[in-house]
Amino acid sequence: MENDTGKFGAPRPCAMNRRGFFKSAAAAAAVAAAGTLGAAPADSKRRNAPAASISKRRTLGSAGAAMEVSALGFGCMGMTYNRSAHPAKRECIALIRNAAERGVTLFDTAIIYGPLNNEELAGEALEPFKGKVALTTKFGHEVVDGKGTGRQDSRPETIKRYCEESLKRLRLDCIELFYQHRFDPKVPVEDVAGAVGDLIRAGKIKRWGICEVGADTIRRAHAVQPLTAVQSEYHLMWREVEKNGVLRACEELGIGVVPYSPINRGFLGGCINEYTRFDPKNDNRPSLPRFSPEAIRANMRIVEELNAFGRTRGATSAQIALAWLLSRSPSIVPIPGTTKLSHLEENLRAADFSIAPDEWEELEGKIAAIPVVGNRYNAEQQKQIGR
Ligand SMILES: NC(=O)c1ccc[n+]([C@@H]2O[C@H](COP(=O)([O-])OP(=O)(O)OC[C@H]3O[C@@H](n4cnc5c(N)ncnc54)[C@H](OP(=O)(O)O)[C@@H]3O)[C@@H](O)[C@H]2O)c1
Repeated sequence: MENDTGKFGAPRPCAMNRRGFFKSAAAAAAVAAAGTLGAAPADSKRRNAPAASISKRRTLGSAGAAMEVSALGFGCMGMTYNRSAHPAKRECIALIRNAAERGVTLFDTAIIYGPLNNEELAGEALEPFKGKVALTTKFGHEVVDGKGTGRQDSRPETIKRYCEESLKRLRLDCIELFYQHRFDPKVPVEDVAGAVGDLIRAGKIKRWGICEVGADTIRRAHAVQPLTAVQSEYHLMWREVEKNGVLRACEELGIGVVPYSPINRGFLGGCINEYTRFDPKNDNRPSLPRFSPEAIRANMRIVEELNAFGRTRGATSAQIALAWLLSRSPSIVPIPGTTKLSHLEENLRAADFSIAPDEWEELEGKIAAIPVVGNRYNAEQQKQIGR
């Protein structure tokens, strides 16, 4: 249960020693080979392997806006939106519950994912964990008759209506963390913060966050209603938040940072190559310059560096990508998404690695020497961020 200090789930002792780690890593590989999702491993040897879990906790935000969550969260978006593979609902529910049982207490969704069906999925999956985990969602993208219009609508009256509707889909009485998904140029952020403050006072939400905005907007928003978290893209191929003042503002103001797409939409996990086919109807990656076959081919050198670095440390490239983010600051909580039990296992173990600062510096130096080909967003998407 959440306690007075905003904690989710009692930290569970991590029973895993180094030997157990390798044993269960092998089990995870066996599960991966069998291509299962949410299913139990077949033979008894694999059944006996300890499951990966996460006991480390981190705090997003400070003072009255603080919230203690698992060091790694879980992004639900890809289960119904933008990531090609959309498994059956019962399999997604099993995987989300599996994550919660393994100690994950921060789950991420948004009204626009689907639209609407991702919130419904996450709400149904996490209903048995009510009060034990934080299911966070986002408003801002306009949705009319179940379809996204491509416009922003963060008018106070819309935020309040969207909140009521999200509460129903999420099967909650109160949303633990409600983010503004994108800046609305027609609504000053102070008015957004004011509407969110009304929702907090009405007991509809507990805290709020904001995504992909500039440092000045963060400061203005926080001055009206203290922010718990800023969600921005951040990973080894996109470190803009280190340069544009966003991380500095969050550190100064005691705001948590939630890096989204922490494996760069799967690319840093090494399962994507120039021949990968994305479903154009339900995957946004073909619209992103970094996912053109030429860019993928060129940027593969980065994945190779992560693999080389991980090989001598018993880690995969995805684990290195996540462990690097965790090493940047104790107030960072990445939210990788997956549709596979094997990847969930792998990702949760990323929190168990201990890599020294000089080793990270060495990796950063090698990555910095590789020019990244292709922008992360196309021109239209770019207009909506950093405001
Ligand atoms: N605030 C925002 O504007 C915003 C924007 C985008 C996303 N988000 C949030 O961030 C979450 C994560 O973002 P994301 O899904 O874009 O990117 P991501 O977490 O970087 O990558 C997800 C992709 O990586 C693959 N993957 C996961 N673990 C892997 C592993 N260990 N090895 C190889 N591949 C692996 C997944 O495929 P499999 O299913 O095959 O594992 C999936 O296609 C979303 O669910 C969403 O909640 C927020």
